[in-house]
Amino acid sequence: MDKKAELDRLRHEIITKNVCPELAAQATNLVMGDGNVNADMVFIGEAPGKKEDESGLPFVGAAGKFLNTMLTQAGLERADVYITNIVKYRPPKNRDPSAKEKEAFLPFLLQQLSIIQPKVVITLGRHSMEYFLPDVKIGEVHGQPQRIKVGGVEFIIVPLYHPAAALYNGSLRQILIDDFLYIPKIIDKKT
Ligand code: URA
Repeated sequence: MDKKAELDRLRHEIITKNVCPELAAQATNLVMGDGNVNADMVFIGEAPGKKEDESGLPFVGAAGKFLNTMLTQAGLERADVYITNIVKYRPPKNRDPSAKEKEAFLPFLLQQLSIIQPKVVITLGRHSMEYFLPDVKIGEVHGQPQRIKVGGVEFIIVPLYHPAAALYNGSLRQILIDDFLYIPKIIDKKT
């Protein structure tokens, strides 16, 4: 089975297993992920917002536009990367995803990663970071690649601030832009 077919099968499994039924019941779409299934890098955000729920695509609202700008500045395009979230349904009123919701989706996220097999996994914000790097502070580790093993699979993780948090915060914004500019160098070292 090719990667796209495997990801479609995984999407189907989330629906048939009725993962997070309360979230599913109020969501318009399951937001699985978007981009290049053969990408060297996968970005992982928190959960879909309103625009993502409506379109079925991750990071298409204001945070997504900022993400696109930073990708361009780093010499990348959305079509070069794969983008997903830890939680695949929109939490009501854009509240933070709960620990239970994140736990329910984690096995599917790990399967997504083992299908795509990226060289580098970039977490956006603390919700996706904390499962890979528990007990660290994002302020101390942002932008620093770390080698970790989860569920028997080894990854290079790069924790970054979330674009929505950095969008309107001048100092965080510059830190995130600088961290993004460093990403291609991390990828080059892995090739
Ligand atoms: N924020 C996220 O974490 N994910 C999205 O898809 C959109 C906004």
